[in-house]
Amino acid sequence: MCGIVGYIGDKSALPVLMDGLKRLEYRGYDSAGVAYVNGGGMGIYKTMGRIRDLQGILPEPLPEARMGLGHTRWATHGAPSDRNAHPHAAGGVVVVHNGIIENYQQLKSRLQSEGHEFASDTDTEVIPQLISRYMKKGMPFEAAMRRAILDLKGSYALGIMSDQAPGKLFAVRNGSPLVVGFGEGEFFFASDIPAFLPYTKKFVFMEDGQMFTLSKGEARLELLGNGGGTPVKKPEAPGFKVVEIDWTAEMAEKEGYGHFMEKEIYEQPKTVMETMREWIDDPPGMLRALGITSRMILGWRRLHIAACGTSYHAALVGKYAIEALAHIPVDVEIASEFRYREQLIEKNSLFISITQSGETADTLAAQREAAKKGAFSLTLCNVVGSTASREADSVLYTRAGPEIGVASTKAFTAQMTALYLLAVALGTERGRLIAAEAQTLIGQLKKMPLLVEKALGSARRVEEVARSITDSSSMLYLGRGINYPIALEGALKLKEISYIHAEGYPAGEMKHGPIALIEKGLPVVVVIPMGSLFEKTLSNIEEVKARGGRVIAVTDEPASLRGRADETITVPPTHPVLSPFVNVIPLQLLAFHTGVLRSNDVDKPRNLAKSVTVE
Ligand code: M6R
Repeated sequence: MCGIVGYIGDKSALPVLMDGLKRLEYRGYDSAGVAYVNGGGMGIYKTMGRIRDLQGILPEPLPEARMGLGHTRWATHGAPSDRNAHPHAAGGVVVVHNGIIENYQQLKSRLQSEGHEFASDTDTEVIPQLISRYMKKGMPFEAAMRRAILDLKGSYALGIMSDQAPGKLFAVRNGSPLVVGFGEGEFFFASDIPAFLPYTKKFVFMEDGQMFTLSKGEARLELLGNGGGTPVKKPEAPGFKVVEIDWTAEMAEKEGYGHFMEKEIYEQPKTVMETMREWIDDPPGMLRALGITSRMILGWRRLHIAACGTSYHAALVGKYAIEALAHIPVDVEIASEFRYREQLIEKNSLFISITQSGETADTLAAQREAAKKGAFSLTLCNVVGSTASREADSVLYTRAGPEIGVASTKAFTAQMTALYLLAVALGTERGRLIAAEAQTLIGQLKKMPLLVEKALGSARRVEEVARSITDSSSMLYLGRGINYPIALEGALKLKEISYIHAEGYPAGEMKHGPIALIEKGLPVVVVIPMGSLFEKTLSNIEEVKARGGRVIAVTDEPASLRGRADETITVPPTHPVLSPFVNVIPLQLLAFHTGVLRSNDVDKPRNLAKSVTVE
């Protein structure tokens, strides 16, 4: 989704803004732009394409300015083009925007009927045009800006400045993420923390309806009358909480790897360990720290989880684990579906949202819906201070560090780690897991960083397999039980990174439809760990082979696959319930290598945004 940056301070603004935009590239974008205001007026540079294209149109030497705005655009209203790129300006007012102005058509028609001429097809342009409308009616710039914001419906994070208020930068939030970074006598704001990690670790996560006025050495926070209500006459200035982030700039850099996705795949032994570190020796203690009491647990008849994409797949693994270890039914739903149906959630039941970014619009909406029904909301989230973490009743942080690759990898295994801790804790509290069983599982979980490391040892073999599928146009991924979500996740990764069509299916369901797709040479990845479903999955392999499919088996039992699978990728043996950890690793690597072999931009796959902050 779009990325916003803003800077005011003693540094030369344009290099800082360009650096911030580069660090936000992972969010996905199709055009980029920057603007500055200085004593001589203002300047705007914007273009369709990459940051390097923007760099190419900047003048040499760069104009000197101490404040400015920057933007990466992910098109929603209006095709990617130079004219639709942000910043947008009218009457000396410059705006960058992330989100959607839902009533822009209505506002645009009114403005056009009054003679305003539009230079773009975007929803965003109504904002500077509206501000200039109120200015034409005699309001000073700041009053006009506050008034115009009251007309907006929808979600927006805005950066605003004007040549009529040099030395002041405005940051507004309603529904789309925005963080303000506090430096020494300087301020930054951005859609996400990594933009300014080299400059500051101190951030304020803005709330809906808030506006920051940033000037040299002063940050002033006020509440705006949001949702088209009455204007706030006397700005209220509540105290704001500065959060110190423990991520480093290096954590958001490639550290010698060719791609963020590759680096993040290889970080998994560490991130799994980090996520379990605090609670592995006392999972029930974790529940107490989360504010979950034995009384609450005994009152729950079922649990609800909602999430999107990869986080949804982690939720499905969590369902299997929690049902197996804690014997409590778990409903898992895609967040965008959850929010628009009758939610049969009992008051005081447990609702879990799973989100790496903590900013996914559908997941946030589901969390809010569940809270409205009176559920206790717990979020499994990777970003300290994100919207999900601030709005939930309780937060269980995954400790994956900044995930920059658009294709989620290390966040997924960190989410599974957190869900297993939860499953063991709930099983223990509900008396379903006796101490010895819990200890065995904990012992196995402690070994997981090592086992994930071993699974990464399959990389060479996986690369060979990737060469054999590079020209495929379609693939099937099959798994059973707790590894069915792993088949889904493997197929999603391949689609995202290689653009090869892939379907994930429960292996036993194949004969109810997808078997029709199998023809000579179709690559079929089968996740087949040793365990109670091994023989059944072997039968599915036979069904694929009988129809000419090419079986790529991911297994901890290679000997039994000899002569049955065309390709075998070996992973280390694990406790069956924990096998998703080792099985997902070769599937992530397969997608990565295939994407690289097809010369795709694996860190920024086409059409995708890292965090989907609009519906
Ligand atoms: O930040 P979230 O975990 O809420 O994001 C959810 C999905 O958008 C995300 O997992 C997406 O599917 C990734 N591109 C998967 O690789």
